[in-house]
Formats: sequence, structure tokens, C-alpha cells
Amino acid sequence: MSSSIYDLKVIINPSRGFKKPSFLSRQEAETVLKFHKTIEAYQPTPLFTLNNLAERLGVECIYVKDESKRFGLNAFKALGGTYAMAKVMCRELGLSDDGMDFGYLSSREVRERTGPITFITATDGNNGRGVAWSAQQLGQKAVVYLPRGTAGARVDAILETGSEAVVTDLNYDNTVRLAMKKAEENSWHLVQDSAWEGYTEVPAWVMQGYMTMIYEAMDQLKANNLGRPTHLFLQSGVGSMPAAILGYLVNDPETENIKSIIVEPHNAACIYNSAVHKDGKRHPVKGDLRTIMAGLACGEPNLIAWDILRDFSYAFVSLEDYFAARGMRMLGNPAGKDPRIISGESGAVGIGLLSLLMEKPELTPVKEQLGFDDNSIVLVLNTEGDTDPDNYLDVVWDGKYSLPFNRALTYHLKRS
Ligand SMILES: Cc1ncc(COP(=O)(O)O)c(C=O)c1O
Repeated sequence: MSSSIYDLKVIINPSRGFKKPSFLSRQEAETVLKFHKTIEAYQPTPLFTLNNLAERLGVECIYVKDESKRFGLNAFKALGGTYAMAKVMCRELGLSDDGMDFGYLSSREVRERTGPITFITATDGNNGRGVAWSAQQLGQKAVVYLPRGTAGARVDAILETGSEAVVTDLNYDNTVRLAMKKAEENSWHLVQDSAWEGYTEVPAWVMQGYMTMIYEAMDQLKANNLGRPTHLFLQSGVGSMPAAILGYLVNDPETENIKSIIVEPHNAACIYNSAVHKDGKRHPVKGDLRTIMAGLACGEPNLIAWDILRDFSYAFVSLEDYFAARGMRMLGNPAGKDPRIISGESGAVGIGLLSLLMEKPELTPVKEQLGFDDNSIVLVLNTEGDTDPDNYLDVVWDGKYSLPFNRALTYHLKRS
């Protein structure tokens, strides 16, 4: 289904898998959370309730899990990097990963045993910052490769940790290939947040690391009697993060029926494109993957993530950048007494999409297909803050990437 006025494409997923990903179980998530709690900077990130926005849009509730507060790094990504790097170190040291402790792995004793370790990764920014920060905490070294056009602020955030940052003239996927080659040439440890044939162990650990985000969110909802979400927006790059969250949810009978909507920018919609083909296989997209949602600018799906997304997602959406820009403006300028949330391009797209679905009569058929109504309880993961501060201000102050036509907003679905 697509909308003619709004540049939005939607596929409702006809398939429902039965092989649940056991590596993303609640039990595994508990082990991961126990590890994250050994990191000094660990704190659960806040879960905000946007009552005024929910009322305005005509849904029951909107919850935003704000990962911009994660470890003070402005994005969720270090959840994966820390866990995978700790697992790599345990393997190096021949240590059991039972009771794995970040403090101990950062100790001088461990450094003396391992000697210097170099981690390498390719990144659009957030993953690299997570890996660089983790290496700094561990007293080890990181080398980070970035695609052409990466915002200066994202590069600076990596350099600030003392890591090496190299901006290539390649797109994201070719930058990953370069990092893989450098890892092989130098015997460095590749900590990549995507999997391919022959490279699945580390990315599976990265994905397990991401589960802390949804484990906390579900706990926060339960502890505060906030009800169970009916819908969840999952913005996707290579698909590791959305698949980790979805895998966790489908493993629990209480949450397996939450409708997970996978969202990507048109120019990097590799998950959507794979769904279009209906042969169950991955179908990459090529080109410069241009979008303001830099975290989602990936053309090749993660091998192990795709199977989960294919089998358990409710819908796949591909859209234009203005959906994300609108979400940034809305979260930064809240309705009524709702809390203000600083949300970057990739973090805000779910709210932007929800708002237009609920407000624009032209999108009513899509809204209905996705099952949104006044009983909907919507969970959104704000996966990053203003990681590109210049673009953030261009969008929020100057209205960059505004809607494609100028029209006063009408709130047709507003509850009176
Ligand atoms: C802020 C943000 N959100 C979402 C994603 C998507 O994660 P994945 O590439 O695992 O699909 C990324 C990836 O870098 C990101 O940086």
C-alpha cells in the first residue's frame, strides 16, 4: 500500500514464523542486564508518557523510551558494544563469561594479562561512539571507520575518547567491508553491529546487548501499571536493533502479539526491499543511501536479523525524511505538560510517522491497516538525541525538511 500525497510505502507482513530466536530470550536478557549493571555509568533510561500528545493524536497512550540518556552517550548503541567487547575479552582471556564484570575487565590485572587489544568497527556514528567509549573504559584501543559525509560532530565524539577515527570516501556498507579487511590484516577484533556469512557470533552478542533497552521498558511499564503496548515502532538500519527487540518480545507470550512496525528511509530501505521480493531472502539496496536518518543509512540487512524481522514483524514501512524531521520538532516542542525530549533524526521517525497517520485523512486507510485507533498504546524508542547538533537546529529552529506541502494541520481524530 502507498500514499500518493505522502511519500509513504507500507507492507503488512503476511507471514508469521514459529522458530523463535532463543538467543534473545528473557533469560538471556537477564544475563545481559546483570552485566550492564556492572558498568559504573549504568542507569536505566527514562520511559516518558506523552499524555497530551496521545490525546491530540487520538490514541490511548504514547510511551517514549529515551535512549539519548544511555551512558551519557546520546544513543543506545553502547548497549551492544559493551556486551560484545566484554564477551570477546572473556574469550581472549579464557575466562568464563558467567558473572562477567565490566569493572574487572577494565582492571590493570586484565590489561596485564591480555596486553593491548585493538577493537575496530565501521559506523555511521553511534555504533562507533559506543565501541570507542567502551574501549576507553576498558583501557584498550579502538579504530573507527566512517562513511563519507559523516557529520563532524559525530566524528569528534569518537575522537574525544582517544580513539582513531577515519572518514572514508565510501558508503556505509563498503566502509564495513574496509573495516573487515583492516581487522584481518592487523589481527584486530572486529566489533560490527551486523552479521554476514561467516561473521555471526559477535553481532549476535551485539544484538543481545540491545535487549536491555526493551527489558527495562517492559519492566517500567509493568512496575507503573501502564498497560501493555499494542504497537511499537522500530527504526531499522541493518536490522540488528529492531530484530533484537522483536526477538525478545516474541519469546514472551505476554508480548508476542505487539504489532512491531519496521521503519526505514526510502533511500536505505533494505528490509522493506527484502520484504517486497517475497522470496524470504535479503535484498540489499545500493547507492549513496542518502537520508538525514544517518543511523538508518545502511543498504545490507544483517543476516541473522533479517530472519527475525521477516518472520515476526507486523509491517514494513519506507518513508521520506520529513517524517523524521516532524518527529524531532514534535518531541522537542511538546504538547501541554508533556516532557520535552531531544530526539535526533533516527530516533524521532516513529513519532513523526504516528502523528501523520493519525492526523492526515489521506492516510486513514494506512492507519486502519496498521490497526491504530483510540485504544492503541504506542511505544517508541528514541534511539538517539541530537547526535548531529547542527542538523538538529536546522530542523527544529528553521523547519528544514518540512512537509511537502503547506497546509494548516487539522486534528480530525482528536478526542473531544
Ligand atoms: C539512532 C539509531 N537508531 C536506530 C538504528 C538502527 O539500528 P540497526 O542498524 O541495528 O537496525 C541505529 C543504527 O546505527 C541508530 O544509530
